[in-house]
Amino acid sequence: METMQEIENQKQYIEKVRIQNEGKELKYYILTMGCQLNENDSEKICGMTEKMGYKLTEDYTQADLVIFNTCCVRENAEDRLFGKLGELKKVKEKRGTIIAIGGCMMQEKHITEKIHESYPYTDIIFGTHTLHKFPEDLYKILENKKKLQDVIDIDGNVYEGIPIKRTSNVKASVTIMYGCNNFCTYCIVPYVRGRERSRHPKDILEEVNLLAKEGYKEITLLGQNVNSYLRAEKWKEQGKEYKGINSFATLLKEISKIDGIERIRFISPHPKDFTDDVIDAIASSEKICKLIHLPLQSGSTNVLKTMNRKYSKEQYLELVEKMKAKIPNLTLSTDIIVGFAGETEEDFQDTLDVVKKVCFEQVYMFIYSRRVGTPGDKMENQVPEEIKHERFDRLKELVESQILKNNQKYVGTIQKVLVEGPSKNNPELLTGRTDSNKVVIFEGDLSLKDKIIELKIVSEHMWYLKGIII
Ligand code: SAH
Ligand code: SF4
Ligand code: F3S
Repeated sequence: METMQEIENQKQYIEKVRIQNEGKELKYYILTMGCQLNENDSEKICGMTEKMGYKLTEDYTQADLVIFNTCCVRENAEDRLFGKLGELKKVKEKRGTIIAIGGCMMQEKHITEKIHESYPYTDIIFGTHTLHKFPEDLYKILENKKKLQDVIDIDGNVYEGIPIKRTSNVKASVTIMYGCNNFCTYCIVPYVRGRERSRHPKDILEEVNLLAKEGYKEITLLGQNVNSYLRAEKWKEQGKEYKGINSFATLLKEISKIDGIERIRFISPHPKDFTDDVIDAIASSEKICKLIHLPLQSGSTNVLKTMNRKYSKEQYLELVEKMKAKIPNLTLSTDIIVGFAGETEEDFQDTLDVVKKVCFEQVYMFIYSRRVGTPGDKMENQVPEEIKHERFDRLKELVESQILKNNQKYVGTIQKVLVEGPSKNNPELLTGRTDSNKVVIFEGDLSLKDKIIELKIVSEHMWYLKGIII
């Protein structure tokens, strides 16, 4: 109730700013860093901003309002933000542009302190728990012209009904839970996103039903650990459920029933919570894509232990075998961190070994980046940078050879492809994605855009496949 009232208050601020901005033809620019959860948050920031009378521009030098939605999962994002903020100084002097920075990095004190010190022309700093208050923050800046910081450290609430402007009209992201309780020792996310809180199934079903009505075909369910959906909710502990939904598996089943939605994806599940009911739900629904993202992080049981991942190399491989046995046409993607504290050559060999055994469809590889405030940062046996890079290159080589091998199995097959539109590299051709998220390039009419069609794959290349309409 309280949260509903809060959103109503924010709607009034939206209206106040809109009236102030009327007739001014104002533009905004937004830069989003980080994961799909942040992208989904940005869709909400855009939704609120456009309702306040701003139109999107791709050119920040022409913007009256610049918004950065930041990530702090690895160090390079910090360099990027400070670089961009430096560039903005001149634009601000010229146009009086309002500068607003939000997102995960703003939950870190040493970062906000640096912004106050080195980039004092920043107008609004908002955090992950105060995103819904952006209209109020912007209103205050317009009224008082005094810079403002709106960051809270406690776990935020779940807010429903924030306006949203989606980036696609056929694929949509739906956040099902916020925060993380896992505290992997390398990871900053639990500190900047707070504890796990799940959206009520009713709100999720309403959102997906609406998306289906609007013509969306593919949805991706988002959370830092989707398979612990509803685990931390008190109402569930009392034995209650909504339309039979009391877990991630039951949510998947119910969403699969929604007419119009043809593809369901989700990221990220945690291997330790990949229960049999989730495997069964995937196997029994045609709509749930058979490309599953299963973050490995390391193939070494020792490193997994210091990472606090709560599974061993063997348990991960057993899970993969079980999934492969139960889910026909399963393909897997993963995340791997190279060079975590204490990782020896032998440990790294274990990672290579798992990669060889599983033969992932896609591997997102990261060099370990020490994050202030995490246990990993305080570990003594840090791996020297040059060794991290050298291992990264070796892993990359193996992964690329596997992708080529994997791609070969597509040649000659028929694939269902969701057509996205003209290819960026060659606008004469169309591009789309298979169930397993592979890019396919093919000749066809633009009227096929947003449709799911069948293509025969005729050749494979490193990052895409070529197909023909059958
Ligand atoms: N909750 C998700 C994703 C978290 S962040 C999960 O558990 O899979 C996305 C990825 O960034 C992680 O899977 C991990 O591979 C990587 N990552 C997180 N912290 C990192 C760090 N400090 N250095 C390098 N990579 C990191
Ligand atoms: Fe970070 Fe681990 Fe939580 Fe993923 S599960 S967000 S890696 S702490
Ligand atoms: Fe980055 Fe925050 Fe996502 S730290 S990876 S944007 S949850």
